[in-house]
Amino acid sequence: MTVARLMLTDFRSYASATIAAGPGFVVLTGENGAGKTNILEAVSMLGPGRGLRGAALAEMAREGGAGGFAVAAELSDEVRLGTGTTPGAPERRQVRINGAPASATALGEWLSLLWLTPAMDRLFTEGAEGRRRFLDRLVLAIEPGHARHVSRYDAAMRARNKLLAAEGPPDDAWLDALEAQLGQHGQAIAEARARTVTALALRIAAEPDAPFARAALAIEGWVPSRRPLAEELRHGRARDRTAGRTLAGPHRQDLAVAHAAKQQPAARASTGEQKALLLGIVLAHADLVAERRGRRPILLMDEVAAHLDPVRRAALFERLGRSGGQIWLTGTERALFDGIGEATWLAVGAGRVEPA
Ligand SMILES: Nc1ncnc2c1ncn2[C@@H]1O[C@H](COP(=O)(O)OP(=O)(O)O)[C@@H](O)[C@H]1O
Ligand SMILES: [Mg+2]
Repeated sequence: MTVARLMLTDFRSYASATIAAGPGFVVLTGENGAGKTNILEAVSMLGPGRGLRGAALAEMAREGGAGGFAVAAELSDEVRLGTGTTPGAPERRQVRINGAPASATALGEWLSLLWLTPAMDRLFTEGAEGRRRFLDRLVLAIEPGHARHVSRYDAAMRARNKLLAAEGPPDDAWLDALEAQLGQHGQAIAEARARTVTALALRIAAEPDAPFARAALAIEGWVPSRRPLAEELRHGRARDRTAGRTLAGPHRQDLAVAHAAKQQPAARASTGEQKALLLGIVLAHADLVAERRGRRPILLMDEVAAHLDPVRRAALFERLGRSGGQIWLTGTERALFDGIGEATWLAVGAGRVEPA
């Protein structure tokens, strides 16, 4: 499934824009600040979550606009997806699927989206939270129900932390109820993550080590024990109250990535090697999603070409072209995409997108 038409209203730098996209490569070119990433971000809002910038909804509404925004898409099979906010509720996300109100998590049933952005260059060197979110996106593309578990888990954990921080004697019945929820969703999250990492690791192991470095993947941090998580939490109440946060559960996990050939943590690899590792993971994952769900995910690759040498760039285009699916790419110049073959070429600038 691909995005055939994308319509933006008061989204970021666009007052109004319509983009017709072909089923394969969609190449956006324009100078710095032209609005290329904004378009990829708009596409990323067709899935659950906060999109590829992880931004607040209010930031997405165009400055100088009425205060709300809309992103709508017609998919290749005529399904219509829409999301946005209204001026009266700039932080409340609304979603429509074929015209009917729906939840953001339901979007995952229609489209699988995966992205690679310059901000992800720091994925291996920064904190575990970014890697957890990355891992959850990988899981979500295979198991859309994962989004619901993650959002319920996060909500229950916030409520538990708040309750533990409150003065006076704790409301044990309420804590029991929250911990039961954390146990249920936490178990599901941990199991889904383990399934994805195992499947992905197998797939990556079967890939050649060039031109994109092979990654070794593992989940570190909290490990589910035989004791149910709800029980672990109940026994940890006093400890968690002192710590001021919940210390057990899948929110304490991390995705450990290593350069397989060098047997070295990804954080120690060069910037270029880290990019190659990430690309290898994303490409293998796209294949895994295609196999598991019978459809290729849409890939959003922001400024990827600029960071690769010509040999790796050619290899990337060749591999993407061979596997098919819709792939959105951005770059400052068209020359970066020489040899890519057939593509929808779009020129971006001054709040407009035009066929190039
Ligand atoms: N909410 C907003 N309203 C209006 N303009 C915005 C908003 N958010 C970002 N922009 C503008 O979008 C531009 C950046 O677009 P971006 O897509 O990141 O550019 P690039 O082509 O370099 O990827 C900036 O000029 C920024 O000011
Ligand atoms: Mg950009």
